[in-house]
Amino acid sequence: MDVVRDIAELRGTLDPVRHRVIGLVPTMGNLHAGHVSLVRACTLACDVSVVSIFVNPTQFGPNEDFASYPRTLTDDLRLLAHNGADVVFEPPVDVMYPEGRENHVTIAVPSLAHTLCGAARPGHFDGVATVVAKLFNIVTPDKAFFGEKDWQQLTLIRTMVRQLDMPVVVEGVPTVRETSGLAMSSRNNYLSDEERQRAALINRVLTGMKKAVEQGEKDYASAEARGHRVLTEAGFDVDYVAVRDAERLVVPDADTRTLRILAAARLGGARLIDNVGVEMP
Ligand code: PAJ
Repeated sequence: MDVVRDIAELRGTLDPVRHRVIGLVPTMGNLHAGHVSLVRACTLACDVSVVSIFVNPTQFGPNEDFASYPRTLTDDLRLLAHNGADVVFEPPVDVMYPEGRENHVTIAVPSLAHTLCGAARPGHFDGVATVVAKLFNIVTPDKAFFGEKDWQQLTLIRTMVRQLDMPVVVEGVPTVRETSGLAMSSRNNYLSDEERQRAALINRVLTGMKKAVEQGEKDYASAEARGHRVLTEAGFDVDYVAVRDAERLVVPDADTRTLRILAAARLGGARLIDNVGVEMP
């Protein structure tokens, strides 16, 4: 496995294999089983698997956890070598933003960046879209793999790729969960043992709402309010519980067949997100 920190070196490593199918898995490191399932999907579908590890400063707000975000490079490299990654791109911040972060070109996806998580995290999704576009230009992968856990991020990337005619196929990979149902996340490290057990309630609330909708619940607003209340009563600081059109993330109408039920809530020191899909008959 090659580990490269520089753009020219990465391109040099990939040039001889350009005729083969190249896959990219963008990550911020601190890898867990969720990331590993993306890497596995990539190695299955592609000849050459590139994993990027970059804690991207432009997607963190001023009061967020950029400085304290867990960085575990040695363990990450061991895990990636074990799981078939061919190339790891691990650039320092000044390789990605050599002219500084101020005045840098920004990619904005206005239709999706300001709702749900975007409302609570101004600028976050512009940072994500920009860094992912840069990684696509640096690696020029045939396919790129993103987790459904970050559903809004996945839909934002799909929208960016479609509207900017980027020649890459975006693959979504199902959420990997702990046995409790809690979606795996690097930010689960911020939870105490007790909070970690309690955090599984988010997924129980979402799957309960999914069942209700499948059984004919049409009043999405009151389903959302019930979910919100259950989480609040259990000590969560709830950002949103929302039933949305899965692709555009707008409020669904009676004809919407593919729904996504999403939630974000703070517990202890962690902001947790999760979502489930509902296919209407
Ligand atoms: P990060 O949080 O490290 O996640 C990297 C990828 O792993 C994302 O596509 C995310 O959806 C996926 N992932 C995380 N937890 C998962 C789980 N439990 N099951 C399945 N997939 C999971 O998301 C980012 O980094 C960044 O925003 C990035 C896209 C790298 C841009 O900086």
